[in-house]
Amino acid sequence: MKILFIGDVVGAPGRKSLKSFLPKIKEKYHPTVTIVNGENAAGGKGITHKIYREFLEMGIQAVTMGNHCWDNKEIFEFIGDEKYLVRPANFPEGTPGSGMVFIKVNDLEVAVINLQGRTFLPAIDCPFKKADELIAEAKKRTNIIFVDFHAEATSEKQALGWYLDGKVSAVVGTHTHVQTADETLLPNGTAYLTDCGMTGVADGIIGVEKEAVIKKFLTNLPVRFEVPKRGILQFNAVLIEVDKKTGTAKRIERIAVKNAEPEEV
Ligand SMILES: [Fe+2]
Ligand SMILES: [Fe+2]
Repeated sequence: MKILFIGDVVGAPGRKSLKSFLPKIKEKYHPTVTIVNGENAAGGKGITHKIYREFLEMGIQAVTMGNHCWDNKEIFEFIGDEKYLVRPANFPEGTPGSGMVFIKVNDLEVAVINLQGRTFLPAIDCPFKKADELIAEAKKRTNIIFVDFHAEATSEKQALGWYLDGKVSAVVGTHTHVQTADETLLPNGTAYLTDCGMTGVADGIIGVEKEAVIKKFLTNLPVRFEVPKRGILQFNAVLIEVDKKTGTAKRIERIAVKNAEPEEV
């Protein structure tokens, strides 16, 4: 079975890019399940109910989140009802929503776990210990376990990859929005990639307008980060082939495609 995971979809250009590239990518790779990180889907900040529903209508089976989870307050109205929306599992006890969901495809079940790092990010519960807890729960139902580790530090991501080697099918990083070229199969059968990258505008700064980001670095004044209205669209993802019985990863391939010309969004 094949898992297609798509890196952070950023704003309207990200959604447009997803809509245009996804059918072609599906045609080429025939994924069994498709998962997307949607923490930046609504104007770069959070997600709305409409966007979440659109993702599911596109054939996406689960939507993971991250540190921007609560940026669009609308999420509080639907996170409790939507079965395929996954927020970081190591947020404090009592946080709305779920940190692990199960996707059913024919006779298969895939556990999707979202965790958030603690290095250069707000203090939350331990992602390593939370992973142990959730994996024990998931294993009662399935060996196919996908982890989106939303974290800033490469070392923390590598550490979780090695820590979970042999316990899950894949550990794929998100959050930095720049795809890394270190995809690998770890010795005990876990597919690993430090960062999956971003789906949105390629000629900005991590998906937002570069002028505002440069101004921020030059002046340290508060600036408003906006998603560009024009740009070159890119699509970043990863495909992982998994043994459906054992959950062991057999192959990992990075996917990074973009258009040649900028366009209005
Ligand atoms: Fe992001
Ligand atoms: Fe993030």
